[in-house]
Amino acid sequence: MYILGISCFFHDAAAALLCDGRLVAAVEEERFTRKKHDPEFPSNAIRHVLAAAGIESGDLDYVVFFEKPFRKFERILLTALGTYPRGSGLFRSAMTTWLTDKLWVSALIAERVGVPRDKIFFSEHHLSHAASAFFCSPFEDAALMTVDGVGEWATATTGYGKGTELQLTREVRFPHSIGLLYSTFTAFLGFEVNEGEYKVMGMAPYGRPRYVDEVRKLVRMAGDGGFHLDLDYFTFQRSTSLPYGKRFVKLFGPPRPIDAPFFTEASGYPSYFGPRPADFIEQARRNQHYADIAASIQLVTEELVVNMAQALQRETGLTRLCLAGGVALNSVANWRILREAGFTELYVQPAAGDAGGAVGAALYLYHALLGKPRSFVMDHGFWGPSYREDEIRAFLDSEGIAYERLDDDALFERAAESLAAGEVIGWFHGAAEWGPRALGHRSILADPRRAEMKDIVNTKIKYREPYRPFAPSVLASAVPQFFDAPGVERQYPGRFMLLVVPIEPSRREAIPAVTHVDGTGRLQVVAREGNERYAELIDRFGKKTGVPVLLNTSFNLRGEPIVNTPREAYETFRRSQLDALVLERYLVRRDGRERR
Ligand SMILES: [Fe+2]
Repeated sequence: MYILGISCFFHDAAAALLCDGRLVAAVEEERFTRKKHDPEFPSNAIRHVLAAAGIESGDLDYVVFFEKPFRKFERILLTALGTYPRGSGLFRSAMTTWLTDKLWVSALIAERVGVPRDKIFFSEHHLSHAASAFFCSPFEDAALMTVDGVGEWATATTGYGKGTELQLTREVRFPHSIGLLYSTFTAFLGFEVNEGEYKVMGMAPYGRPRYVDEVRKLVRMAGDGGFHLDLDYFTFQRSTSLPYGKRFVKLFGPPRPIDAPFFTEASGYPSYFGPRPADFIEQARRNQHYADIAASIQLVTEELVVNMAQALQRETGLTRLCLAGGVALNSVANWRILREAGFTELYVQPAAGDAGGAVGAALYLYHALLGKPRSFVMDHGFWGPSYREDEIRAFLDSEGIAYERLDDDALFERAAESLAAGEVIGWFHGAAEWGPRALGHRSILADPRRAEMKDIVNTKIKYREPYRPFAPSVLASAVPQFFDAPGVERQYPGRFMLLVVPIEPSRREAIPAVTHVDGTGRLQVVAREGNERYAELIDRFGKKTGVPVLLNTSFNLRGEPIVNTPREAYETFRRSQLDALVLERYLVRRDGRERR
């Protein structure tokens, strides 16, 4: 039985295909269209997942959309009408965008996918989130928690899963939303909403949470795990442009200019920003204020989700927790939940945001509605396109690119050697990652022992703000040696780079390029099983250096989606200053030292 799951029209459109309840392929549309977070109907992603299974749309038994468009429209309409006339802008934009194609999702799917309308089903937004975590987890029973901006009406839900059954028993409804609260601060701090949330999280450790009392004025926590926003501070419920109002600005001061360079005295002024400005101290002080605000909203967000998870644990008595929704990508909060909420095991799948709804919607139909038994665990994150060696060779030859084909032993040896010598490598192999993190299949890799590597990687390719940490990929066996996070190597979110944990204090100097200012790291636990070649490379690097850890960042230029094809990988290599590019077993070097 083939089931296609689709999520789209908000952000991160994606498609996923199940064959008899097992995931065959899943991919975000942005990887094909090259538009980051592309929300449009995922025609390319659908084409890919069908091809990956070797089927055509006529072979599909069901197609499931990840949410209920009519219910969502109802929420938007009622919200807009409820705030009329102040919300007239929202009303107009809701009417135009929703009446054009969003409301006609069923007809659209039938036409674009080529399936009859009676094969098309609609899940619910948070059910899709919850199913994406629970039915991908190895747990027979678990507590479930979903937290995001907003779905149809719900913004956070809790419940439980048992076997093929899934129940959401409580929900918090729009406009009360942790995701929208965090996004409001994201916008206030000068970043793009749905994109800049990571920057707020990365900025937080540079600040002190001096404004928690002010943030707590905006949101009240309830004893049952729920919460309530004071709407007087917000405008997102009636405006599609600015999410905060005058009272918010009165509390926190003027917003940070959009995309202004961020640095503090602690971060210093990175060389790739250009010459240090004469008023560095003054600018750093201004930025410090915003870092303190970031620290405050991050801390309150952690408190809110920990409180919700604690209440859920008390209520259900369960020991395992599955987490989903955009807020489940807050890897700092995830670690606190794991430590403080009373659960012993946590599962988050790599595409925890809306893209994951495609997988969740399909699994929800298969298990919860059709009652089919479970036989699938998402224990790795590689569900996207892959390329055969002959395809890569054909591309390299057609472009006249000089390369060397190496056997595995020579490849790992040469790559480990060049990393240990301080080179930065584009590493491309196997199926692409599902979700926003690169997990060693479409990654840029470097030596974490060199403090200067942060600046080097930024200068060569990333041009990121200095406060955004690079992640350490660590062999599972070496995790206890480097991290002060007992048992983290056994937690699935660790495999998917979804936990930020303290680095063992005595080892921080050993891996300075992946140690954040507060002594933490967003680690990726690399197990051989499911990530064989990447594990082998880290192992070789460890044997040479005594440090089985690599700096891993996603293979893309700033502002672009992660590379998808060998051609995009090569183009990114060409446009940046990476020292070498590995495409499966083909090595391309910038200095032309290939032996053809
Ligand atoms: Fe969502």
